Amino acid sequence: MKTKRIALIRGDITTLDVDAIVNAANNSLLGGGGVDGAIHRAAGPGLLAECRQLNGCNTGEAKITRGYNLPARFVIHTVGPVWHGGNSGEEHLLRSCYNGSLNLAHDYQLKTIAFPNISTGVYGYPKQQAGRVAVEAVSEWLDVHPDFKQVNFVAFDEENFTIYEELLG
Ligand code: APR
Repeated sequence: MKTKRIALIRGDITTLDVDAIVNAANNSLLGGGGVDGAIHRAAGPGLLAECRQLNGCNTGEAKITRGYNLPARFVIHTVGPVWHGGNSGEEHLLRSCYNGSLNLAHDYQLKTIAFPNISTGVYGYPKQQAGRVAVEAVSEWLDVHPDFKQVNFVAFDEENFTIYEELLG
């Protein structure tokens, strides 16, 4: 049952012992604030050193590195869309972040992953709409990947947590 394979966690994604945590990065992959800053701080300098080799990442795409000092074995860096009102392909790009990250995890035979609420901070994507896209994309992906074990949505703020509680029922 896909619903049994989706969990909601309130807290800090850098503390999670999963195969991969997803970073809401920017196109440079050279760090930033928000969850990007938290992940780099927790992982240590090795993460940035590896990111420098990746030559950035396009919006909607995902790249993978090791997790370094994080409990997670890998970090999957994805770049969400900046919200420009909803008529610039934002939904498609956000969906692509979730699918691309999951496909990359699957390619690496990973079984558990944790997502932050991509694009809902600095990038300004409305939380309710972003949550709906995230839950739809992950649910559909799990339907066709029965071997994947667990997707965790990690809400750092109360508003996102409440939205996901309602979306996940
Ligand atoms: N664990 C989990 N979630 C977190 C954490 C954390 N430690 N810190 C912040 N968040 C949440 C925020 O509350 C928000 O809901 O991550 C979500 C995404 O917010 P941002 O980190 O601002 O990411 P985003 O909106 O995708 O903007 C990306 O911000 O930090 C820069 O380099 C990054 O330029 C990029 C931009």
